[in-house]
Amino acid sequence: MPPESPVLTLDGPSGAGKGAVGQICAVRLGWHYLDSGAVYRALAHVLEKKSINIRSLDDVLKAAHEMNFECHPNPPEPARIIINGESAGAELRSEAAGEIASELAREPRIRSVLLGLQRNASRPPGLVTDGRDMGTVVFPQAVLKIFLTASPEERAHRRYNQLKLKGFDVSLAGLFQAIQERDTRDAERNASPLKAAADAVLVDSTDLTIEEVVTRVLNLLRTRLEIAGIDTVEQESGLT
Ligand code: C5P
Repeated sequence: MPPESPVLTLDGPSGAGKGAVGQICAVRLGWHYLDSGAVYRALAHVLEKKSINIRSLDDVLKAAHEMNFECHPNPPEPARIIINGESAGAELRSEAAGEIASELAREPRIRSVLLGLQRNASRPPGLVTDGRDMGTVVFPQAVLKIFLTASPEERAHRRYNQLKLKGFDVSLAGLFQAIQERDTRDAERNASPLKAAADAVLVDSTDLTIEEVVTRVLNLLRTRLEIAGIDTVEQESGLT
């Protein structure tokens, strides 16, 4: 069997900076990038487009099976997502889409259909991916697992600024509460709950800039790749 290509996972609660950091790392490394939250958001989007009720599990599973999903890093903007051949718009990033995604993500049968799609994103020369269970369930063999956190207040602020820039009408207090509720739901569900892998490195981004987090992650990755004896052209261009 050919050796598996390396995977870097970034898990953590919403607003911790996983997407921003993950995308920059992927671009610098020349690796593929997967925003796994967008997979769940994409399914929510497909269901809405096809007028499928999220409680009709058979129809939801069929739509998940048939869903074609592409993700391209696009920092500093969110990743470019193509669903069933069509480019998705800003509506994918609304807090409402995140809520439906989080509802869908509680169902183990939906998660297991979407597992194959996520694992297929791992291709040479490597993959950077972020989400809630990338290091614990989807890529347990990842060469480096980061668990990225930030204080709830800081995360609400970041989300607020992001959504305001996109033209969404949101309140900071409302977002703070919505984020807390979504985190609780993600952490307390039975299926692949949000938690750090036992071998994850914890990084608190509350007082760090994106660039500082990127530097820390890429330094850790360089060491891990060296230890694992993985040597790629992209590694040289991205990490030196
Ligand atoms: O990261 P993002 O906010 O886009 O994720 C939307 C929702 O998708 C999360 O609240 C979570 O419920 C779900 N999700 C998940 N597992 C992942 C990524 C996201 O359950 N790996």
